[in-house]
Amino acid sequence: MPVPKIPLARNLNIALIQLIAGADKAANLSKVTQFIDSAITKSKIGKIDVVMLPECFNSPYAVDKFREYAEEIPNGETSRLLSELASKHDVFIVGGSIPEHDTLNDKIFNTSLTFNPLGQIIAKHRKTHLFDIDIPNGITFKESETLSAGDKATVFKLGDFGNVGLGICYDIRFPELAMAASRAPNNSFAMFYPGAFNTTTGPLHWHLLAKARAVDNEIFTVLCSPGRDVGGSGYQAYGHSLVVDPYGKVIAEAGEGEEILYAQLDKEILPAARSGIPVHYQRRFDVYEDVTPTTKVSDL
Ligand SMILES: *[C@@H]1O[C@H](CO)[C@@H](O)[C@H](O)[C@H]1NC(C)=O
Ligand SMILES: *[C@@H]1O[C@H](CO)[C@@H](O)[C@H](O)[C@H]1NC(C)=O
Ligand SMILES: *[C@@H]1O[C@H](CO)[C@@H](O)[C@H](O)[C@H]1NC(C)=O
Ligand SMILES: *[C@@H]1O[C@H](CO)[C@@H](O)[C@H](O)[C@H]1NC(C)=O
Repeated sequence: MPVPKIPLARNLNIALIQLIAGADKAANLSKVTQFIDSAITKSKIGKIDVVMLPECFNSPYAVDKFREYAEEIPNGETSRLLSELASKHDVFIVGGSIPEHDTLNDKIFNTSLTFNPLGQIIAKHRKTHLFDIDIPNGITFKESETLSAGDKATVFKLGDFGNVGLGICYDIRFPELAMAASRAPNNSFAMFYPGAFNTTTGPLHWHLLAKARAVDNEIFTVLCSPGRDVGGSGYQAYGHSLVVDPYGKVIAEAGEGEEILYAQLDKEILPAARSGIPVHYQRRFDVYEDVTPTTKVSDL
């Protein structure tokens, strides 16, 4: 058996920004700036390597608003701001998700951008699985009315730490993205998911899905939610931003409101989990299919 590549080369310090986003984009962007500043300056776990933002941090979470709030990448104001903040603070920024206006074909995508400490975009994930439901006498939510779906899984190189896979919200329910990202050749040490579950699906599935993706693949899962705007008229996000280790154990969890959640991903845990319970090396692809070779992966 080939010597496995070390998926996480050194300990990684991460700050998850669980903020409440509303209708005023400029106010929201200035709040993002303040939160990132304080995440960096008030850290008690040492230098922060990665700052992560939640899904939909610059716009209301509402299908009919996506087009109005959408902007071009990389020249829109949100992209430019995150790029500046990444280089100012010398951190990677996993930019939650924003509505992207692709002017070439006039389509709107739900897109997550990741910046390196030089302020360059190193990954762009377009939400792959759009959330369409229509329950008779119940809720109807059709993202596909306004959004287009991305057509690739996303894996990127997080500097010298290793590789990370990224999905947005509903993508976490589809195990294939995490499987493909965590196996060779990509060998990701984590899946990052900006997400906005609600107060029904959150209690039911948020922890379960984070732990399931972690334990199946023996990787870290990192989920960043908006805070809950209790009493507000908008979308009631679950909150509870979460970091789960490769054993499936919760190592950090936020409450419901606005909060900065810190976690350190310990490089020793992933190899220990895989050698203790070697499912990672004992797959039987002669019995069932490996999805890895057929998954379309983009690294920008
Ligand atoms: C966004 O703007 C709205 C309206 O001004 C405000 O209520 C909300 O708190 C802001 N959110 C952020 C994250 O700044
Ligand atoms: C992305 O999709 C989610 C639904 O899962 C939606 O609530 C959210 O507002 C969208 N975000 C953006 C920024 O388009
Ligand atoms: C992930 O794997 C694909 C092949 O499936 C490869 O093209 C891509 O460069 C890899 N990405 C990284 C960041 O290793
Ligand atoms: C949350 O979303 C689910 C569908 O995903 C829906 O069935 C449920 O009614 C929603 N709950 C609230 C409180 O809006």
